[in-house]
Amino acid sequence: MSASVARSTPPERHFSDSFTWGVSTAAYQIEGAFDQGGRGPSIWDVFSHTPGKTARGDNGDVACDHYNRWREDLELLRELGIGAYRFSVAWPRWSPAGNGRVNPEGCEFYDRLVDGLLDIGVAPWLCLYHWDLPQALQERGGWADRDVVERFSDHAASVMAVLGDRVEHVALLNEPNVVGLLGHLLGLHAPGLSDLDAYAAATHHLNLATGKTLDRLRREGRGWALGTILNLQPVLAQGDSEDDAAAAALLDAVWNGNHLDPLVSGRYPAATEALLERFVREGDLESVKRPLDWFGLNLYSQLRVAADPSSLVGLRLVEPPEEAETTAMGWEVAPEALSRQLKEAQARLGEVPIVVTENGAAYRDRPGPDLEVDDLRRTNYLERHVREVLSAREAGVDVRGYFVWSLLDNFEWHEGYARRFGLVYVDYPTQRRVPKRSFRWYQQLVRSGVIPRSEDVA
Ligand code: FCB
Repeated sequence: MSASVARSTPPERHFSDSFTWGVSTAAYQIEGAFDQGGRGPSIWDVFSHTPGKTARGDNGDVACDHYNRWREDLELLRELGIGAYRFSVAWPRWSPAGNGRVNPEGCEFYDRLVDGLLDIGVAPWLCLYHWDLPQALQERGGWADRDVVERFSDHAASVMAVLGDRVEHVALLNEPNVVGLLGHLLGLHAPGLSDLDAYAAATHHLNLATGKTLDRLRREGRGWALGTILNLQPVLAQGDSEDDAAAAALLDAVWNGNHLDPLVSGRYPAATEALLERFVREGDLESVKRPLDWFGLNLYSQLRVAADPSSLVGLRLVEPPEEAETTAMGWEVAPEALSRQLKEAQARLGEVPIVVTENGAAYRDRPGPDLEVDDLRRTNYLERHVREVLSAREAGVDVRGYFVWSLLDNFEWHEGYARRFGLVYVDYPTQRRVPKRSFRWYQQLVRSGVIPRSEDVA
């Protein structure tokens, strides 16, 4: 075949073998075993056991019992055929009081998990913080206390000293904006604060912890691919008025800018600078501005906002229009937000490769008699989002991977167990796992590199 013919033949595959397909999970959402193996309490144990904080009082005591069933869960990963698995290390399992004293049983758990992944040819992508701060550190101020920056760096170094000979991809923090806003300002997540100062302090300390820990791990010269994960979303103004545009710009600064701006430009957005700078010491922002080896984007939807003079902050979130499709979370299904956000992130980050580290949807799955779930809507959501990844790649965005949230139905934070995001249905009373239609769809995609039509997969 001549070269010119080869060039004009449309590629059969949408994605080449070098593209990373994965699924993501987080320790508190799946592990359970809250009092097993020497684990200490985390802020999520305390928060979820506080009456009124989570839907129906759900908590992560048992969750998917992954701590005891991880071998079965690795079998699912093998069956799915993916190349990478993103999980988080529970800080209070590793170091129960968060003071650096290590719990050998905790280390052994992750040690075996990493070996088990490598045995089945799945690359471990390790996230160092997915929201379960040791309660002992919260009692000293948590993320609002500057000392946490050192504690986190020490913890990261301790984990990597044990697992770093087998783990290459490391994410420092998962969604610091959600930790700051939902945990410290809106009181919806642990530690359940509604305190502007705590929010501002935590926001800055999360950024500082990212920069300092990157330096610390880089100094070890072990060649790890170090990245961090932000939840970014396009913010749409409700109307054409200047006030709505200003409200959108403010929310964009708070949601997206407070963590992306210091990382890429060493500055806080003009709109939030005055609030945050009280916690900034000389040299801090220089150590936050760091090139990453890769950037993790979590994206589910987009935000809509309008000016509202009666609200404390002058704006309010607007519900999606009536005709819009939404998931069980009430989040608008907006696949085009993914390609848009990928392009915008790439423009800000320069040459840094991007990985979609979370994308997925909760629906009210209705299992059949043998617990089979025909989740066409989730499958379709995923199909449309993966098509947007493809279009972003075609537009020149360096997207290197895509991870579905999540492998299993799990504890969805303050929303509890009723919000199911899994490719695999979990029957909580029996802990039986049953792959859904979306699992089979993803399996085909991963195997072939071609995006299957959701309707064609039974
Ligand atoms: C993200 C979280 C993840 C999960 C999904 C639905 O914000 O990182 O743990 O809860 O939302």
